Parts: sequence; C-alpha cells; structure tokens
Amino acid sequence: MAPERHFFSFGNGGALRYHSLPRARKRRAPVFFHDDTMTLSEIAAKQAEALSEISAAADSVAIEAARVKYLGRNGLLPALMKGLRDVPPAEKPAFGQALNALRGALSAALEERRAAAETSAAPKVSFDFSMPGSWRGTGAIHPVSEVIEETTRIFARLGFTVADGPDIETEFNNFDALNTAKHHPSRDARDTFWLGPELLLRTQTSPVQIRAMLAKKPPVRIINPGRCYRRDTTDATHAANFHQIEGLYVDVKPVSLADLKSTLAHFAREMMGQSVQVRFRPHFFPFTEPSVEVDFTCHVCKGRGCAVCKQSGWIEVMGAGIVDTRVFEKVGYDPECYGYAFGMGVERIAMIKHGVTDLRMLYGGDLRYLRQFL
Ligand code: PHE
Repeated sequence: MAPERHFFSFGNGGALRYHSLPRARKRRAPVFFHDDTMTLSEIAAKQAEALSEISAAADSVAIEAARVKYLGRNGLLPALMKGLRDVPPAEKPAFGQALNALRGALSAALEERRAAAETSAAPKVSFDFSMPGSWRGTGAIHPVSEVIEETTRIFARLGFTVADGPDIETEFNNFDALNTAKHHPSRDARDTFWLGPELLLRTQTSPVQIRAMLAKKPPVRIINPGRCYRRDTTDATHAANFHQIEGLYVDVKPVSLADLKSTLAHFAREMMGQSVQVRFRPHFFPFTEPSVEVDFTCHVCKGRGCAVCKQSGWIEVMGAGIVDTRVFEKVGYDPECYGYAFGMGVERIAMIKHGVTDLRMLYGGDLRYLRQFL
C-alpha cells in the first residue's frame, strides 16, 4: 500500500496565530505552522475523535466549546479548508469530499447533542412563575344559614339554648299538643305532607317546643331552628320546604307580653340595626293567647312606604304570643305556668336583610346570584 501523502497543515490543534500588530494596520492572514499535516485517514481519525468529544459534551457550554473547537472560525475545519489550496488538483475532490463529510458529520452530531441536552435540561414539570395563580374560590355561609346562626347567637346571649327535633313528627306534637282543632284546615292533606295516619313532615318548628316541655320542667328557655314542610306551590314568597326559628320561654314566675315585646324588640335591633321599629298586631294562633303578629319597619324605604312593603312601611316577620294554658295541660305542666313563644320564617328574614325579592333565588343554586352575599 502506497504511503499516504500528507497535504494538510495542522498545527497547535488548529489554533491560529496572529501577529500582534497595532490595530490600525491591516491584520495579516493567519499563519499555519507546518509542523504537521493530515492524510485522509488522519482526517477520519480526527472526525472520530471529534464525534466522541461531541457526544461526551455534557451540557450546552461543553457543546458550544466543541463547536468552536471544530467548526468555529478559528477551528479545525476552516483550517483544513484553507489547506485545500495546497492539495494537488487530482487529489482535491477526495479531500473536498472528506472535508464536506467531516463538516456534515460534526454539524449533525452537534445539533443532535444540543437537542438532547435541551430536553434533558428542561425541568420535568414546567412551571411558569410569572403565571397568575389558580384561584380555588372561597366559600361563604348561605344567607339562610347565616340568619339561623345570627339569630341563635342573639338569643344565646339572652340565655336561650338551642333545641332540635326531627323533621318527621307525630300528629300529636305538630297539632294536638299545640291545641290545633281536630278539623283545623292546616291539618288538611292539601296543606300538610302526611306520611301515614299519625306521621307527617312537620309544618312548623313548634313541635320542638312540645318535645322540650315533655322532657323538662320549667324554666325552659329554648330557641329551635329547623326545616319545615308545607304543601305550598312554590312562588316568590312560598316554598314547600323552608326554615323557621322558634323561641319558647316558660317559667314558674310571671312572664308577660311586655317581656316578649322587649325581647323581640331587642332581637330586631340586633338583627336589623338600631333604627328598626317593631309593631305588634293582634292575631290568632291555637297555641298562644293572646297572639300577635310582629312587623319590622321596611328595610328598603325605612317605613316611608315602597313596593317591597306594599306601601305600608311594614314587613311582617313573625308570629308570637303568650303560651295558651291548654298547651301546658297537654305537656303536663302546671297551667299556672307563664310563658311566651314566637316563631319566624328564616327565608323571610334573609330576604329582608339582603333585599331579596324572590325566595327561589335563595335556593336556585345560581352562584352568580349567591356570590353577592360573599
Ligand atoms: N308556629 C307559628 C307558624 O308557623 C308561628 C308561631 C310560633 C306563632 C310561636 C306564635 C308562637 O306560623
């Protein structure tokens, strides 16, 4: 085999030297040190060496260093290209091809390595710190629950404790013990959801008071919030399922209508603000005598008269009265006991407080509406 001919100048690992001349003078062409030359097989060996160096480059800095070393302006390839000048014409195509192949191989290897380094350097989970955070939303207490809580707190400060009872009640607790006449229309199947001859869905929270009195001797001072059911067609002010809060105070010492009035006036001011006025109108309930209906001055017009209060200036809020002695008899209390009772619709209070004109909005579950109360 003929010895390979050396054509390419290659010295100092391809590093070029410049004469250090004042910048004003034209820079001289780079000078090669002809202390080494390259054969085709040496080019191939150099290519292999360069490729292994590139593939070993661990990060973008090392990759760039390899690029500068081999393909950079002062790197190996331009130096070899320059040497092409000295190659005899007959050999030129072979060397030209070898150099093109070298450039192609090195560029491809660098590119591939760069892409690989980028993917491995990319964090596993991309996280953009500048992105606005995701908002989970804050919950809020529903206006109906809020009224229950607030009312309970107000009466708790007056010494009332919370009593509870089941939604499914006996006819005795819901009607008989409350002195409701046998043929009172409220007992009718068109008004009450009957579950059997003796059982029903309670139409008011008053049966909790019966339960409390059956369980405990006076004094009794309870507040009982809860769900009630009536066979009402749902409209702006009625629902088949609604809430009441009732209160009961029974004692062996005199409890008067004046006590009831001052207690409810206090509640009104705590709930609606100091400027609210309270009005008591005579009424009838089977379980209280005398009975009253309690109105608050309209929250919208402050008593001047508007569409909400039907120009009356007043809004009916609850029923109340002095406990009828017949009720005491039914629960085995001494009829000489004294007591007052009151009961209010929770939705009604929530509507008054928040200016809600349609009760159905409270239960519609429409967040756009309920968010107003956040
Ligand atoms: N339970 C009555 C109703 O549902 C309200 C009330 C309670 C009235 C206590 C007087 C005393 O309308």
